[in-house]
Amino acid sequence: MDHFFNPKSVAIVGASTKQGKIGYDILKNILQYSYSGAVYPVNPRTDTILGQKAFPDLLSIPDPIDLVIVSVPPPRVLDVIRQCKEKDVDSVVVITAGFKEVGGAGSHLEEELVKEIKEAGIRLIGPNCLGIIDTASFLNASFAAGMPLAGHIGFFSQSGALCVAILDWALGENIGFSKFISLGNKADITEIDLIRAMADDENTRVILGYLESIEDGHTFMNVAQSVSKKKPIIMIKSGTTSAGAKAASSHTGALAGSNTAYNAAFKQCGIVHAHSIQELFVYATAFASQPLPKGPRVAIVTNSGGPGIIAADACDLSDLELPSIKKESVERLRSFLPPTASFYNPIDIIGDATSERYKKTLEVILADDLIDAVLILLTPTAAIDIVETAEAIVALAKNTDKPIITSFMGERKVRPGRKIFQDNGIPTFGYPEEAVAALNAMFRYRQWLNQPEKEFVRVEVAIPKVRQIFASVTEQKRSDLIEIEAREVLEAYNFTLSKNILVNTTKKAVSAASEIGYPVVMKIASPDVLHKSDMGGVRAGLENERMVEEAFFDITSNIRQRLPNARIMGISVQEMVRGGREVILGISNDIQFGPMIMFGLGGIYVEVLKDVAFRIVPVSVEDADAMIREIRSFPLLRGVRGEPAADLLAIRKSILALSQMALDFPEIIEADINPLVVRPEGKGAVAVDARFTVQE
Ligand code: ACO
Repeated sequence: MDHFFNPKSVAIVGASTKQGKIGYDILKNILQYSYSGAVYPVNPRTDTILGQKAFPDLLSIPDPIDLVIVSVPPPRVLDVIRQCKEKDVDSVVVITAGFKEVGGAGSHLEEELVKEIKEAGIRLIGPNCLGIIDTASFLNASFAAGMPLAGHIGFFSQSGALCVAILDWALGENIGFSKFISLGNKADITEIDLIRAMADDENTRVILGYLESIEDGHTFMNVAQSVSKKKPIIMIKSGTTSAGAKAASSHTGALAGSNTAYNAAFKQCGIVHAHSIQELFVYATAFASQPLPKGPRVAIVTNSGGPGIIAADACDLSDLELPSIKKESVERLRSFLPPTASFYNPIDIIGDATSERYKKTLEVILADDLIDAVLILLTPTAAIDIVETAEAIVALAKNTDKPIITSFMGERKVRPGRKIFQDNGIPTFGYPEEAVAALNAMFRYRQWLNQPEKEFVRVEVAIPKVRQIFASVTEQKRSDLIEIEAREVLEAYNFTLSKNILVNTTKKAVSAASEIGYPVVMKIASPDVLHKSDMGGVRAGLENERMVEEAFFDITSNIRQRLPNARIMGISVQEMVRGGREVILGISNDIQFGPMIMFGLGGIYVEVLKDVAFRIVPVSVEDADAMIREIRSFPLLRGVRGEPAADLLAIRKSILALSQMALDFPEIIEADINPLVVRPEGKGAVAVDARFTVQE
């Protein structure tokens, strides 16, 4: 994408002599920020614009053009693209709005635009965008009001308006960018191209993105996963996908909300997920200017108790730790701090602290090898010289490889201190919680970097058997599997199932029950009865022959009465599985990311608390373990109050088997295994009930 970011020549088609017009602003921006390449305004109505010779069209320009910026009304855009083709231009930014975003004729026009550029081998940013900026080549090919400072954040955004706001904010905060790109409608170039380009860009240390949608989830994940091992990708995603709106018949489908797939994908790719614009920039500032912490151990240095406790609480809710500092460090601190100071983390150097006290304390803390990162809090007391303290911190930061994050609380008095930090690349935040959030995100990213290569396993399964079942379901013009089929599918993927015998007479039911062993469960087997319990098609806890006979009669008459047309294949007599934790596993499908696996504890945990974890297929061993640990009710699986731990390896195996199945059979639209009864450690898990919906 070199012609976009470092072009030798730029033409602006639609450049205007009239102030206030977008074509005027773009040309002015290109000219006023020291871009050193050739600039060609194109406008048929004038000879010069802003002192530059203007050309009536692209073809009249005698020299080759690397980049064309298009700012003419929508009906003229295609003609300009044809000229680009003729002139061998390969990189175009279309600013013009009125395409897909307006629907109808606009969508049609965008389709034609895409067709034209594909045929011509042109790469395109936009349409409907603000333009692009590269601070290394001093190119501001946008109509933004201002030029960002040079820095190490590469930013792209699907919203042009947000670009403008962020640029203004960043100028106020002294935050610099390497690249600044408004993606617009993403008719051709998408976030994937930009992540790739920024991965190789030596000026970009942090990739920052605002997205409303991702169209090619699979490629996005592949690219993001490898790039995030090189440099951090911080992303905010807004808006919902249509996938969330679809009617789901399984638990898993119903629990897969609109952003579930994005959340899962970001986790799997090591993307630092910001949940607000504020968070996006808290993270960006910290990642762009500070080294990553080597571990989770943070020391808080403060001149007041309250903020120290607030920061400590925030650490407690995060993955960070607040260890005690070394004994020798305490001794050193005692030699110059007043006895009323607190020598244990948070280290409170109390209200009359001076800049000298901060400096000496920080020297001790930064040298302490039990500490990985330092959070410096300050409230503006009369005793403190803000500027001196900030300067001392800047000097110390130059000689350490530990990240330093600051929060000088207040506004008017601390402002000069913040300014010093901003000028010297020390992240500074108004509130301790933001500082902790930044450090936590950095530590998590460090963990991602430390993670070994993901392990994907495949096990021997009976694919032909499952293929045959799905084919027969489709032949019968069904999309839902009956239980017996669902059980066979699971068996083919090595799940252990509760004992089960399909019967069609009372007598056979009784002998099946005695073969399985009491107590038993009986369930209707019918392709037309999906909600078996609701229809009176299930009886549990059957202890003897008489109860089995009664259940057989009740179930058949309930179904005949309530669903007279239902086809009945018989009644399943099943073992009553007890003595384990009930969990739910499932498959659902996302339009952009494809199949996802869900895991959670069964019963109220899934129904009321919606305490579930999702991952996109294929799920690695590490992802499966992370899913298990991610749910809030995980301590119940680990064992509480003397209860034995559940067989976590059996859960992992089940998640991986389901992931393999979803990959092998994309025709599975939704599936639930509910419940999977997980026995204590080493004793495995038993699938009791399952349902599958396949593409008809
Ligand atoms: N070749 C060269 N120049 C041409 C051509 C052509 N084929 N056709 C027209 N021009 C010239 C015009 O003569 C005019 O120059 P002039 O001012 O000297 O007469 C200039 O190009 C612009 O054409 P206009 O017809 O005056 O169009 P205008 O400038 O009003 O609008 C624009 C063009 C800006 C592209 C408009 O159609 C548009 O899309 N505006 C919205 C842009 C937008 O919002 N993008 C998303 C931004 S992201 C965000 O939300 C912040």
